[in-house]
Amino acid sequence: MTVHFIGAGPGAPDLLTLRGRDLIASCPVCLYAGSLVPEAILGHCPKGARIVNTAPMNLDQIMDEIRAAHADGLDVVRLHSGDLSVWSAMGEQLRRLREEDIPFSVTPGVPSFAAAAASLGTELTLPGLAQSVVLTRTPGRASSMPEGESLKNFAATGATLAIHLSIQNLGTVVGDLSPAYGADCPVAVVYRASWPDEQIIRGTLSDIQNKLGEDITRTALILVGPALAGEGFDESCLYATDYDRRYRPQSAQSPWASWQHGDD
Ligand SMILES: C[S@@+](CC[C@H](N)C(=O)[O-])C[C@H]1O[C@@H](n2cnc3c(N)ncnc32)[C@H](O)[C@@H]1O
Repeated sequence: MTVHFIGAGPGAPDLLTLRGRDLIASCPVCLYAGSLVPEAILGHCPKGARIVNTAPMNLDQIMDEIRAAHADGLDVVRLHSGDLSVWSAMGEQLRRLREEDIPFSVTPGVPSFAAAAASLGTELTLPGLAQSVVLTRTPGRASSMPEGESLKNFAATGATLAIHLSIQNLGTVVGDLSPAYGADCPVAVVYRASWPDEQIIRGTLSDIQNKLGEDITRTALILVGPALAGEGFDESCLYATDYDRRYRPQSAQSPWASWQHGDD
């Protein structure tokens, strides 16, 4: 018996890995984390599967479900939205499973920041503008931020910021970022990336609050940074005609000239 954690992706049911789909189809028990996991993904469960929405449950109740399946020798699929490596609450579940010697596996999923960038048609790391992406959030009712992980500190880097779980704090985000990024810094808010009701609002730190209005209050990403402009960046060396590299040595003297495909 194994508990298979699956990143169910950002929303569109076909943004699920083949491995995830096949595991879902093979497990008689499915525990899924609420409304961000689309119904169509649950459609991969085998006929007669026990399908449980864990949104109203606490960790002990979730563990009771897993223990019952373990006692019966039934594999469990555990679905969380996006990818499991960020804000999935997988860590606390894995800790309990390790304590109880219950086997598990982890299958990654498409994270919402990647789906949002795809919807925007944007690369978040553009040469000369930004070469780092910070996945972060602002403090919430139930979660404080570790000291040092403040927006003001991240702003000092000038990196592209992908701010999760924070649309309700947009005013604070704007206030904290404007001194470092400037009022004209581009911002995009992507609501429910990849869902049929996806919305994209583009603006700058100075006008994004007015453009957003009051309608969007959850399931949105705030992307901030100069890379969001999608212009004014350098071309990468990767495809430059004169860039000497392993796959395109520029001369017989190149250190790559004697390199064969298949060498390290
Ligand atoms: C609990 S976190 C889950 C993050 C998820 N594990 C991931 O990989 O993206 C929920 C937050 O992720 C973001 N989010 C999740 N799905 C989204 C989507 N389809 N479009 C935009 N933002 C999304 C929002 O900021 C939301 O408040």
